[in-house]
Amino acid sequence: MSGIILLVNGPNLNMLGVREPEKYGKTTLEEIVEKTAKRASESGFRLKAFQSNHEGSIIDFIQKEGMEADGMLLNAGAFTHTSVAVRDAILSVKLPFIELHLSNVFAREEFRHRSFLSDIAAGVICGFGETSYELAIRAMIDFLSKRG
Ligand code: DQA
Repeated sequence: MSGIILLVNGPNLNMLGVREPEKYGKTTLEEIVEKTAKRASESGFRLKAFQSNHEGSIIDFIQKEGMEADGMLLNAGAFTHTSVAVRDAILSVKLPFIELHLSNVFAREEFRHRSFLSDIAAGVICGFGETSYELAIRAMIDFLSKRG
């Protein structure tokens, strides 16, 4: 184990706090990253956080960092519903990951019900706002400790 957990956020998540606060809350991504990193370090893990609005940059990050990391928390934003390429990148590095969303995607438009990631994820967490991130880091630490 390298002790590294990746936190990857996709398009428009840099706008958290400003973007549709009734759906996504008022907390900024920076605050979420800080809290998640703190939670990780309390359990002896280092969080490497990355956000991009570009599909290729997310793929580059997963290819580069995914080999070494123990696991990943991934909010791929809209790419969740569209990207075979992000799915293939994760499969190519064989990285266990948790798919997460702030909103309950199943209570929203039908096009958000489809995910190219869920069936290859260790688990999916959605609908709890910023708490989705807290639940995801706890779940990943638990998952990794059981896997040994
Ligand atoms: C989201 C849900 C996606 O459908 C949407 O495109 C996002 C955010 C969420 O965290 O709720 O950008 O991933």
